[in-house]
Amino acid sequence: MQTLKVDLGERSYPIYIGEGLLDQTSLLAPHIAGRKVAVVSNATVAPLYLDRLTQTLGAYSVVPVVLPDGEAFKNWETLQTIFDAMLTARLDRRVTVIALGGGVIGDMAGFAAACYQRGVDFIQVPTTLLSQVDSSVGGKTGINHPLGKNMVGAFYQPQAVLIDTTTLATLPPRELSAGLAEVIKYGFICDEPFLGWLEDNVDALRAVDQAALTVAIARSCEAKARVVGADERESGVRATLNLGHTFGHAIETHMGYGVWLHGEAVGAGTVMALEMSMRLGWITQAERDRGIRLLQRAGLPVVPPAEMTPADFLEHMAIDKKVLDGSLRLVLLRSMGEAVITADYPHDVLQATLEADYRAIVAGLEV
Ligand code: NAD
Ligand code: GLY
Repeated sequence: MQTLKVDLGERSYPIYIGEGLLDQTSLLAPHIAGRKVAVVSNATVAPLYLDRLTQTLGAYSVVPVVLPDGEAFKNWETLQTIFDAMLTARLDRRVTVIALGGGVIGDMAGFAAACYQRGVDFIQVPTTLLSQVDSSVGGKTGINHPLGKNMVGAFYQPQAVLIDTTTLATLPPRELSAGLAEVIKYGFICDEPFLGWLEDNVDALRAVDQAALTVAIARSCEAKARVVGADERESGVRATLNLGHTFGHAIETHMGYGVWLHGEAVGAGTVMALEMSMRLGWITQAERDRGIRLLQRAGLPVVPPAEMTPADFLEHMAIDKKVLDGSLRLVLLRSMGEAVITADYPHDVLQATLEADYRAIVAGLEV
């Protein structure tokens, strides 16, 4: 097992990474203050892992809260059902909320914990690759609004993150690929050598090779912990974790939540960010193509939806959380392995990026 730390002073917490950690009571117990635990999961993950986690929590009174599965349920109505279940079970402020599932469950359970009786403890037990490398770490919690992704939420850090890498054995391949979008992101924004490792290991990762996954998860969590430790509330460098997300969130919102997976939208959105960085002269065409090829080998879409026009993108991007005083800041690559957030770009370069023929670009990649 590896233990990493998110260093946030008195709100610091460990990230445990390893095989079979779901069964280890001794990892969870030090982070549970009271005698009662609410385990928030969903209709897909609960039948797979809830009994095991409940056994591990044998010394505690466990209240299971099983939500419907899907991004489309990351909303007020579903959040309310968490509060309904917790209040019906008479859970008091000593309760610990445990999120057992992917990023949707982690974001919603974390937000519920932030709000329930003005804040109770919570623990992340992420079961998708995406949640293990990104969403469970850093304390961003929240829900979607029909007008925009993750528009309602709170920064609220967990007590601990417990990553059992063997849970990925049951993850559908499409979801594994979606998680790889966020893994590859760390290479682009802050760890260029990692891109070479990923090129060598992407097939092993897609084959759910535990050794390769453990390396990728630990390296991703190290990067995320470093960035969050430096800028918890996203006043600067943390925004670079959103490479490809402004374009990606526009895709998710426009297509309807859940139609494109979050990671898939980030994959295509990252291609657009690479394209724009190249058009600004910051990366070369060969570097753009290298990035697209890696995303493609990860099984991700590398072309935005055909039905989305540049006007559609601009409309959704205007509601992005990175808009400040009306100007849209974008995360772009100053070079491979170095991201910047900037509003200082000519609008016609953004327009050209939105109008680019991605199908032709991908067709023209050298094999
Ligand atoms: P998800 O939570 O919808 O999970 C994907 C699917 O896999 C679901 O159907 C789920 O039930 C299923 N699943 C989960 N674990 C499984 C397992 N072990 N075996 C079989 N099936 C399993 O999606 P996700 O990709 O994990 O997370 C995406 C969400 O995370 C988005 O809402 C996104 O906005 C959010 N996100 C948040 C942050 C953050 O910092 N808080 C960062 C990135 C993404
Ligand atoms: N996923 C982006 C962040 O946590 O800041």
